[in-house]
Amino acid sequence: MNRFETIAKNLAEQIRAGHIPVGTTLPSLRQIIAQYGVSQSTVLRAYYLLEKWGLVRAEERAGYFVAPGAAVDEIALTEETEAPKKVDISDLVFSVLESTRHPDIVPLGSAFPSPALFPSARLLKSLVAGTRSLTPLSTVEDLPGSDHLRQQIRRRYVGTGFAVAPEEIIVTNGALEALNLCLMAVTRPGDVVAVESPGFYAALQAIERLDLRAVEIPVDPVSGLDLDALQSALKQHPIRACWFMPNFQNPTGTSLSIEKKRALVEMLREKQIPLIEDDVYQELHFSRDRPLPAKAFDSEGLVMHCSSFSKTLAPGYRIGWATAGRFADKVRRLKLMTTLSACIPAQAGIADYLEHGGYDKHLRSLRLSLQIQLEQMEIALRKWLPSSVKWVRPDGGYILWLQLPQSVKAMELHALASARGISIAPGPMFSARHAFQNCVRLNFGHPWDARFESAIGSLAEILDDPSVHH
Ligand SMILES: Cc1ncc(COP(=O)(O)O)c(C=O)c1O
Repeated sequence: MNRFETIAKNLAEQIRAGHIPVGTTLPSLRQIIAQYGVSQSTVLRAYYLLEKWGLVRAEERAGYFVAPGAAVDEIALTEETEAPKKVDISDLVFSVLESTRHPDIVPLGSAFPSPALFPSARLLKSLVAGTRSLTPLSTVEDLPGSDHLRQQIRRRYVGTGFAVAPEEIIVTNGALEALNLCLMAVTRPGDVVAVESPGFYAALQAIERLDLRAVEIPVDPVSGLDLDALQSALKQHPIRACWFMPNFQNPTGTSLSIEKKRALVEMLREKQIPLIEDDVYQELHFSRDRPLPAKAFDSEGLVMHCSSFSKTLAPGYRIGWATAGRFADKVRRLKLMTTLSACIPAQAGIADYLEHGGYDKHLRSLRLSLQIQLEQMEIALRKWLPSSVKWVRPDGGYILWLQLPQSVKAMELHALASARGISIAPGPMFSARHAFQNCVRLNFGHPWDARFESAIGSLAEILDDPSVHH
């Protein structure tokens, strides 16, 4: 058990025994630091864990209070010691996604940025030029994947600061196919896969579909994936593969530091466990430099790096890729056996656009729009929502993870918001255990307007409704 878990466990025992009564504050940071000889961040992690267990509530500027009912609650002390689980998430995800599709719905729950931010006219020009350059023969010969596109993708890796071999790259129908093929390449039914918690629901769906079992590794909204928890999970379970998102993680928006990426790759290298790296938001960074993927630290071909043009350029073209290291041949065969190839004209169009269309200029303006929209959303959230609603500002991407008061039932909030024409992505979508009941993911990838402002106001009204609280 880590030190923060020990502290959280000791405090939890005192709370449950009634030594720290409901409604009173927890001992101060300073007291705990002095008592255990630990850093402030360790104590904060312990408090955060207690909050997650539903034992305490954070009140801005007042500290942490023992939550009503905490003294009698049974709690699971460490998530990483839980047994691997079969997953049953699809019904929930489909019902929520279905509610985001209608054009009149305010798409705060959507998984994509607004297509209005993409250079569709310029891309169309490239689609025409790229398709024109195809010979009748190339529409057959290029079937496994266009060399031109793979060269362009390879160039972007070089631009990030490291090289990959062109043979490693398999062009796919979006990142989702890349991720799924990589998972299929390294697992068999019944195997255990480590995923993030909260994490991207498609990982859970893939695990469900392939009859695998998931072990959830906690993600801290500030520091990202908990590597200590991963380390103990690796000791306890026969983990066959990991599926993680080190940059701008979905849904928390958090990123791993360079040191943590390096440590993650090393930890998995020691046990020869493959990492499926989902990096679809990599290009949407707000700081100056594009963040390195974990793949940059992979010397043994164990990291399968998956990304696409869906979040930056053209969702409907369905062009993505896997740079699959030592598993490239296997992934290529699986691609051939399942869907043979990604659409050749779409590949030709995107390759032409990457070469001549001004992708970097477009990305600069896209990132700026996303940053401005994030600020506009934060202003609205501060204006309308109670100060007990917390979030950590992401440094890229277009999603914001809100932690609402512990009493909130996100599924109820989602139902009442849908009835008012607003979609949100409720926290339980992002966990095999349907946890994160008091969290929601909001999308700031759309140009801000009165509709969004008023939707945030409506969410505040709904939050006042007693039926959304336990
Ligand atoms: C985190 C994450 N990974 C992967 C994907 C899949 O991307 P694509 O549309 O390229 O298949 C999505 C799309 O929703 C996503 O949000």
